[in-house]
Amino acid sequence: MNDASTQVRADLDRLLPVLDTALTEPFRLGPAVRLGEAVRYSLEAGGKRVRPVLCLLASEAVGGSVAQALPGALALEYIHTYSLIHDDLPAMDDDDLRRGRPTNHKVFGEGHAILAGDALLTEAFGVLAAADLDPVRRAEALVLLAEGAGWHGMAGGQALDLEGEAIASYDLDHLRLIHRMKTGALLRASLEIGAVLGGASSSERAALRAYGEAIGLAFQIQDDILDATATEAELGKRTGKDAGKSKITYPSLLGLDGARNALDEATETALCQLATLPKPNSLAAWARYLAQRAK
Ligand code: IPE
Ligand code: IPE
Ligand code: MG
Ligand code: MG
Ligand code: MG
Repeated sequence: MNDASTQVRADLDRLLPVLDTALTEPFRLGPAVRLGEAVRYSLEAGGKRVRPVLCLLASEAVGGSVAQALPGALALEYIHTYSLIHDDLPAMDDDDLRRGRPTNHKVFGEGHAILAGDALLTEAFGVLAAADLDPVRRAEALVLLAEGAGWHGMAGGQALDLEGEAIASYDLDHLRLIHRMKTGALLRASLEIGAVLGGASSSERAALRAYGEAIGLAFQIQDDILDATATEAELGKRTGKDAGKSKITYPSLLGLDGARNALDEATETALCQLATLPKPNSLAAWARYLAQRAK
């Protein structure tokens, strides 16, 4: 293992137990039993937890704690899991495998999958709004969550991605916009919410926002590369889907080498943002690790 993956492993060993216990807590008891099952099915399926972990690490990078940022981290994984459940629906990417399991709608039906997404989206705002946090920081985090998830962010990007399936060709600027919105916005929010809840200064917050923006773009470029190069067993989701649906991606526009260059460039941009932070080491390791991830 190289230095970056050793650091990432240590962060995961420390943070995943905290996250995994807290994530399903709001969905254990309630009258809509099957909806609770549908939500827990996707939450417990073993996602990589990149967004919540980065949120917690951003708090630590500016001298804050895990506990201060935990409600933000939970909210981010709820939004992300909802986005995947809806992304897999027949009306969107029409996928049958996710996180190594049949997709939510294949098991619970489309109605419950839509509602599981709705419940997760709503709980994301609920868990953050109800948290015992400094009220100004909490309000700022809620605004950032809305920005990352909504029509200027993930939901808007997903719409552009869908509309793009009908367009025979578009340029790199448009593809970059889609990637920044559908994936980058929530990753950027993960870092900035962690910064805010951890008590960052305005310059630290700006640096973490810029870092999040850059690794967000890098993350979707690598997702596109893996769709074209990795196996289903490695990813726990179908591969070759982008080419099958004639999606315009970094590899389809630039070739694999061009896509890898763009990934390296975005990763370098991310690393450059960390210079002024009090404790940059973990986030530097994560940027390097995510660029070479195999799943
Ligand atoms: C997949 O996200 C969808 C994208 C936004 C690229 P992840 O690769 O983080 O998925 P999980 O959470 O590990 O399943
Ligand atoms: C999805 O992008 C981004 C989301 C906001 C869910 P993809 O459609 O490429 O994600 P995968 O490959 O299905 O995980
Ligand atoms: Mg999609
Ligand atoms: Mg998809
Ligand atoms: Mg993909």
